[in-house]
Amino acid sequence: MQGHGEAGLARTGKPGRCGRPRLLWRSVLVALLALALAGCAAHPQTTLAPESDYANNIQNLFVFTCWAALVVFLVVAGALLVAIVRFRRKPGDGRPRLLMGNRNLEIGWTVAPVIVLTAIAIPTVALIFQSEGPAPAQSLQVTAVGHQWWFEFQYPDQQIVSANEMHIIVGRPVNVALKSADVMHSFWVPKLGGKRDMIPNHTNYLWFTPEKTDTYYAECAEFCGISHANMSFRVVVDTPAQFDAWVQEQHHVAAAPASPQAVAGAQDFMNLSCAGCHTISGTSAAGVTGPNLTHLGSRGTLAAGTLPNNPANLAQWLADPDGIKPGNLMGKVVVPGMLNQTQITDLTAYLESLK
Ligand code: CUA
Repeated sequence: MQGHGEAGLARTGKPGRCGRPRLLWRSVLVALLALALAGCAAHPQTTLAPESDYANNIQNLFVFTCWAALVVFLVVAGALLVAIVRFRRKPGDGRPRLLMGNRNLEIGWTVAPVIVLTAIAIPTVALIFQSEGPAPAQSLQVTAVGHQWWFEFQYPDQQIVSANEMHIIVGRPVNVALKSADVMHSFWVPKLGGKRDMIPNHTNYLWFTPEKTDTYYAECAEFCGISHANMSFRVVVDTPAQFDAWVQEQHHVAAAPASPQAVAGAQDFMNLSCAGCHTISGTSAAGVTGPNLTHLGSRGTLAAGTLPNNPANLAQWLADPDGIKPGNLMGKVVVPGMLNQTQITDLTAYLESLK
């Protein structure tokens, strides 16, 4: 049997050839390999691949702070090493002289951190103020409202209200007014910038200019209750033509149900409690407690960015909303078993037809 390193050391006075040291090196190698491989994977939520002016400025601050931290580390670790080597106790040394206070040293280690922290604080605070606005005059205006647990997006100039998917335009600044309908949330699109708090009875602002057309993952970044982790959204950066097409589509009232199932689903929607909480423009459904569903079928995700939008997921959501997003308001009304299978199928057909 091969003993552990320490046991081998105790018995023979030499480190064992196997055991902990080798295990340690293997672990380090595996960790490095994992890190290297992780670098190859797609990271939709990394902050280290900025794709807006604001996110780039944050990245520059981060890199600057890292270099400053490295300089501080080298100075401190170097001084420590010099102290260890040069002032090592030698055989025959008596008790060391007792030092009481050193004014120059104390001034030095007070002033140096003040300089370092000031050098970091000035550009950081300046960037916070700059990103709050005023935004450029040609900015697209969007009001983002945090709800437990979903995001509402209002476009005052386009007269559009949507949910969980924010469309903006490549190369054009967007000025986001951040609000909350209930508790504190935080607006965070890792590749485009943020985080910035969404506070009840207060409006924060954040403006940035997206550099590429893409779909970005985004999150609530402030603990806001039991389903905080289920509060995501997407930011879709369109070309100007794509954005105009999206606006046109959003201006249409909901398509009339075509299939018999969708017709039955539309009736269910009005007769059950759905219409009390959700708006579908062009119908009598005008509730504002839950997300506007007028164009639900055209959105990429369901349940605040937590599920891909497809009929199977929508049916699962309708059967048990609380099982997917614990604590949400709809789950208090639509408990498992409330809707029968036919109603779920019909409602799914209707809602998915709302493009
Ligand atoms: Cu909203 Cu966390």
